[in-house]
Amino acid sequence: MTRINAKFQGESVPAVAQALRYSTRSAHQRLDRHPLLQQLVRPGLSRASYTASLLALYRPQAQLEAGVTVSAVRLGLASGEAAPAPPRLPLLEADLCGLGAVFCLPDSSEAREAGSSAALVGLRYVLDGSRLGGQVIARLVVERLGEDVPHRFFAAIDPDGHWRRFLAFSQHHCPPEDVDNAVEAAQTAFEDYLAALDAAL
Ligand code: HEM
Repeated sequence: MTRINAKFQGESVPAVAQALRYSTRSAHQRLDRHPLLQQLVRPGLSRASYTASLLALYRPQAQLEAGVTVSAVRLGLASGEAAPAPPRLPLLEADLCGLGAVFCLPDSSEAREAGSSAALVGLRYVLDGSRLGGQVIARLVVERLGEDVPHRFFAAIDPDGHWRRFLAFSQHHCPPEDVDNAVEAAQTAFEDYLAALDAAL
C-alpha cells in the first residue's frame, strides 16, 4: 500500500522527515506486504487470523515503544512538548484479552535505545507513523468483522495530532548534520519490526 499523506498536503514537512520517508520507503513496503499484516487488509479476514496478526504485532510493538520511552527519559525528552505519544501497548493488550488470546510480555532488554536525540527522531518516526496506517486498518477490520470486534489498538485516537507533534519534534531535535543518524535508527527499527514479525510466522 502506498503511503499517501493527502491529509497533510500543503503542510510543510521538515527535511529530516522527508529524508526518513524517502529512505524507509522500501522497508515500509516490505512490512505492509508481510503476510501477517497483509491479511488485515485483504478480503476474507477471520477473527482467528486477526487475532494471529495482533499476537504477532505484540513483540515488535512492545520493543519499539520501550525503546522510545526509555530513550526519551534518558535524553531528557520525556515531558512537555517533547513527550512521546502515549503508548498503544495497553490497547493492544486489551484487544488481545477481548479476543481471548494468551500472551506474555517480551523481555524488556530487547528494546533498542537511541543514543542521541536524532536517533530518537528516527525511532519516533517509525512508531508515530505506524499510527497513520492503523486508521486504514481499523476501518477495514470493522468492515469485515463488525463494530464489536476489539480494535482499540488500530483505532487509537488522534493519529494525525500525534503525527504533527512528531513533525515538530523532528524539526527541533535533529540538526541537519545528524539526519543520517535519524535515518539509520529508523531503518534499524523497521528491520527489527520485520524480524519480529518473521519470527511469528
Ligand atoms: C498492513 C500494514 C500497514 C499499512 C496498510 C500501512 C499503511 C500506511 C498508510 C496508508 C500510511 C499513510 C497514512 C497517512 O498519511 O495518513 C502509512 C504511513 C506510515 N506508516 Fe504504515 N502501514 C502499515 C504498517 C506499518 C507499520 C507496521 C509501521 C511501522 C512499524 C508503519 C510505519 C509507517 C510510517 C513511519 C508512516 C509515515 C510515512 C511518512 O509519511 O513519512 N506502517 N502507512
